[in-house]
Amino acid sequence: MKLTVVGGGSTYTPELIDGFARLRDRLPIEELVLVDPATDRLELVGGLARRIFARLGHPGTITTTADLDAAVADCDAVLLQLRVGGQAARQQDETWPLECGCVGQETTGAGGLAKALRTVPVVLDIADRVRRANPDAWIIDFTNPVGIVTRALLEAGHRAVGLCNVAIGLQRRFAGLLGVEPGEVHLDHYGLNHLTWELGVRLGGPGGMDVLPGLLTEHSEHIAAELRLPKALLNRLGVVPSYYLRYFYAHDEVVEQLREQPSRAAEVAAMESELLRLYADPALDEKPALLARRGGAYYSEAAVALAASLLGGAPAGGAAADSVQVVNVRNDGTLPFLPDDAVVEVPARISPDGARPLPAPTIDPLFAGLIAHVTGYERLALEAALHGGRDRVFRALLAHPLIGQYDRAEALTDRLLAHNKDHLVWV
Ligand code: G6P
Ligand code: MN
Repeated sequence: MKLTVVGGGSTYTPELIDGFARLRDRLPIEELVLVDPATDRLELVGGLARRIFARLGHPGTITTTADLDAAVADCDAVLLQLRVGGQAARQQDETWPLECGCVGQETTGAGGLAKALRTVPVVLDIADRVRRANPDAWIIDFTNPVGIVTRALLEAGHRAVGLCNVAIGLQRRFAGLLGVEPGEVHLDHYGLNHLTWELGVRLGGPGGMDVLPGLLTEHSEHIAAELRLPKALLNRLGVVPSYYLRYFYAHDEVVEQLREQPSRAAEVAAMESELLRLYADPALDEKPALLARRGGAYYSEAAVALAASLLGGAPAGGAAADSVQVVNVRNDGTLPFLPDDAVVEVPARISPDGARPLPAPTIDPLFAGLIAHVTGYERLALEAALHGGRDRVFRALLAHPLIGQYDRAEALTDRLLAHNKDHLVWV
């Protein structure tokens, strides 16, 4: 089996490598290719990756290259984990929206639109090259904004599934609170990427008993503190929102805080320099503890599980329920209030034929309204990413529930275009 990681020079890659090495029985990789245009980083990351494989006795080979077409030749699956413009572009996304009173975040709101505009054309070009190399290869997209990027890929007819670590993170968290194995916990996880709610927490599989009410009674204080939302709100919702919902439920409060503190991009850039310094040490042969301070916890577990199911590998423990995973997939009636071609983040059964969503419960209008609203924005965001033009950018911003007012949308459009002219050919 040959797997290619696009954006393989990311400082996150050792997390992935560690997962590939630990879970090699589930995903027997013979050849792993890390491809990245940033060759200096790539060599540092590639060196550590090989040492991790060696220490954990993984027999697969790891190669590094800047040549995408060579990297994807004959590959079975491609993982996309790239960031167009790097942390410098992220720094912009997180700051200029604040000047207009809007949240500055890399995937939510105006910053997320900027990221989508920079990213969609690059990802579509990569996907075309993957398809030319091997029309049967699966594309696993981690690249943010995952919902919009996955929708772009699916509309262009690619064999793609979108993946995020929010669901697996909550699954592990709840398993810890309940004192059970993570594989025992099934989440009724519904919404769009970075806009989801855990509507149920079931033990033993999709049809198992819902223990969410008890979890909230016993642990809402804890869970609310982690989400940085009031416990009373959590109890009133009766479900667990993802931490990205804080940008909606506490928008103005977050804007005030973001204005006072260094951006996440600046924090991450500092961590990345330190990580790369550590990776350069030939004695280092494991992922450093510092990596745990990045947001990508468990993403290697999620990637291994998804790739294994898509490529027909054995599910862990052999249980059929393990082929149910939370992914980003075409809606096709799963959430009946959304168009079929929307991309939703839901539990789905994964097989070599792709991802098939489980039947969804009825969604409370308290959540359905926001999901539908953001789906409209995502449609318009994709139009802007595919076809360009100031007016399409304005329409997407006006449609976003955190923006909505014409004067803000105008001011944000001006800033988005000014800050991204080097990345957008049409500006
Ligand atoms: C979570 C999200 C990812 C996001 C990451 C950011 O893992 O699910 O989509 O990329 O956080 O983490 P960072 O350490 O870069 O802030
Ligand atoms: Mn994510």
